[in-house]
Amino acid sequence: MAVMAVVGAQWGDEGKGRIVDWLAQDADLVIRYQGGDNAGHTVVNDIGTFKLHILPSGIFNPATRCVVGAGAVVNPAGLMVELAEVEAQGVDTANIWLSERCHIVMPYHIALDGLEEEARTTGARIGTTKRGIGPVYTDKAARIGIRLGDLGRPKWLRERLGLALERANRLLGLFGHAPFELEALLTLAEGWHEVLAPRIIDTLPMVRSVVRGGGRVVLEGQLGVMRDLDWGMYPYVTSSNPTAAYAAAGAGLPATAITQVVGVVKAYTTSVGGGPLPTEQLNADGDRLREAGREYGATTGRPRRCGWFDGAAIGHATWLNGFTSLAVTKLDVLDEFAEIRLCVGYLLDGVAIDGVPDTPDLGRVQPVWETMPGWLCSTREARLWSDLPPAAQRYLERIAELAGAPIRFVSVGPERERLVVVEGDWS
Ligand code: GDP
Ligand code: IMO
Ligand code: MG
Repeated sequence: MAVMAVVGAQWGDEGKGRIVDWLAQDADLVIRYQGGDNAGHTVVNDIGTFKLHILPSGIFNPATRCVVGAGAVVNPAGLMVELAEVEAQGVDTANIWLSERCHIVMPYHIALDGLEEEARTTGARIGTTKRGIGPVYTDKAARIGIRLGDLGRPKWLRERLGLALERANRLLGLFGHAPFELEALLTLAEGWHEVLAPRIIDTLPMVRSVVRGGGRVVLEGQLGVMRDLDWGMYPYVTSSNPTAAYAAAGAGLPATAITQVVGVVKAYTTSVGGGPLPTEQLNADGDRLREAGREYGATTGRPRRCGWFDGAAIGHATWLNGFTSLAVTKLDVLDEFAEIRLCVGYLLDGVAIDGVPDTPDLGRVQPVWETMPGWLCSTREARLWSDLPPAAQRYLERIAELAGAPIRFVSVGPERERLVVVEGDWS
């Protein structure tokens, strides 16, 4: 049995899609376990360049079954566009399955996301992707959500949607927004069902048989630990749990089935949206990282906030996820830096603290810096650990030490093959 959870270890956009695409070459099953189309997972391979939002990043291997698990939320209209786009680029989508338990992002969730974000004062803005993620998970927890399986049960759907809409329209009314009409939404839902019905299934028998049969399974996370609903920097978080502990629940398998947890770690730090970012560089270094790393959001196109690697945040991530190994990405972005800084801990009111404090204090911490020499040569052709320049090896070893987990992969370019495989074994 080999069930590998692939988790974002920082503030998101670590390169999860790129790592899952690589692993999927040998995987039997890939399951997206949380989040929705707020994700932008970039994959660059022989077929082309893709920015996936809800489709699992395993779709490029036609032999790999890809599942959107019950912990994820689906905007059916967006999904249909995404399917059409990848099909137009030659991707076989016959093996993509959707759990009947996925909650549906409705048009009223998207409207509410935008209105609620606008209503927040500037400093309190989360900077959401406006994909309806907060409102759909709110309805899920309030037990008033609509799920993909409901699309095939017209009577039930009419009752459930009627209830949900009453509440959504009351809320929308507070913002002066026009109400959504039940009949119009039911017509939309019919259209979604016509296209998506063959893919909407009880995914458990499939997942169970692959796991029991000893198949290779990848659990694909969305976003990163620092925006986890419970252990991230609340309230500047998403409305689900990217951490590995949720991977089992969201995918529909026992927690004890997970055999590996790979933390995906960018060689520096980026964040899109509000909230603290202790190692942010609002200076020429930050601009250089943004340009060299092409740090612009895959979903919203927003410039990402950039800073040096944060060893305190990684320690937090390793504890919460139990990383068995790391995939360090974007090492090549540092190729031309003569010196590289990294944060090895935080001071709060001048005193060294253990770990990552809660949000108001996280906004006040001072990083403790270390400076390491750069390597000033290209790493893009490296495929083996021994191909990497010694200074890059030292930097990676320091990251592994701060994380308390060994390095399994080092990514040296966005393309599938630009990967140093330190440890390729699945078991
Ligand atoms: P994800 O959301 O975690 O899947 O990450 P994103 O796709 O949002 O952001 C990662 C970005 O970095 C994408 O544009 C990738 O193509 C790119 N990328 C991934 N790995 C590497 C790498 O090793 N080097 C470089 N230069 N770019 C990379
Ligand atoms: P991937 O999977 C980076 C950020 C938003 C906002 C906060 C909440 O590509 O790493 P939401 O729309 O979820 O309610 O927004 O989280 N955010 C992301 N940042 N990458 C993402 O996904 C993100 N998904 C959400 O900017 O601050
Ligand atoms: Mg992304």
